[in-house]
Amino acid sequence: VTSASRSEEGRSPGEPSANQFLAAVRSARRRPLLIAHRGDSAHAPENTLDAARRAWEAGADAWEFDVQLTRDGVAVVIHDESLDRTTDVARRFRADPRAASGYLVADFDFDEVRTLDAGSWFHSRRADSKTARALETGEVRVPSLRECLELTRRLDWLANVELKALPDPDPRLLDAVIAELDAVGCDERVLISSFDHDEVARAARTSRGWATGVLAATPIHRPAKYVREIVGADCFHTSTLCLGAGSSRYLRHPAPEHLRTGDLRTLAESGIPALVYTVNDARPDGLAAHLAGTGVAGLFTDDPGALRGLVDNSP
Ligand code: G3P
Ligand code: CA
Repeated sequence: VTSASRSEEGRSPGEPSANQFLAAVRSARRRPLLIAHRGDSAHAPENTLDAARRAWEAGADAWEFDVQLTRDGVAVVIHDESLDRTTDVARRFRADPRAASGYLVADFDFDEVRTLDAGSWFHSRRADSKTARALETGEVRVPSLRECLELTRRLDWLANVELKALPDPDPRLLDAVIAELDAVGCDERVLISSFDHDEVARAARTSRGWATGVLAATPIHRPAKYVREIVGADCFHTSTLCLGAGSSRYLRHPAPEHLRTGDLRTLAESGIPALVYTVNDARPDGLAAHLAGTGVAGLFTDDPGALRGLVDNSP
């Protein structure tokens, strides 16, 4: 990662921005922004247009989804490197040689991906009756990034585009995302994040209006300096585990003072919004309530409807 003093085309890190996602996380609301993790993935197949619509109906402030490239370079929205868990690829392509490498998204062309059923796996697990009826048609597809951005714009909504750039970094991914943002014209509604911080730095340097976030799965030394000065990003996205929610101390005595909140304080003092994934415990004295009390700017959740009531009623 190179030092990021001033964007090549955009603003300096921390400078005011017209980005609506950033404005929402920085607003003076007393509650954290609710970001539907892969859409309303508790009630609809993750990373689909159905999951997005349900999240919007449930009152999520934004949705988050994962982007990868197909073999022919189309940006599609799917979490795993493999198509296997969330589609019927193994049944449809049983005799295909690509089974040997685990049905990687990167080994299939967009036209092939589009033939797959991306809803039935979920239907058979836990869809409620309303979703089940829609899924019985077998017509839920892996969406393209273009479709997801168009829906976001149509709903007058916000999106966190996560670049699934690891474990195989490919500069074409960010290039494709930027091309789709240009095509749809929704830079100001989007925050780009990734565990690949080289790509976050590149997204920040070239920003024409999108915001950026550093995703971390382990604690980072001096996170405020790292996010703002080294990467040049706007936000820090950290996990519940980094904040100590899996520690025996917190598990034995779940209370805000047993979370690891030092980094959150430093980030807040530096004006860097901290967003936490993935928080589904919506009990009045559960993890979401504890985190809301620490001043985090956003919570990623699989169940925005459940958290909506909690954060709306928090003191
Ligand atoms: O962006 C937060 C979260 O989505 C990162 O983890 O594995 O769910 O993409 P993952
Ligand atoms: Ca994600």
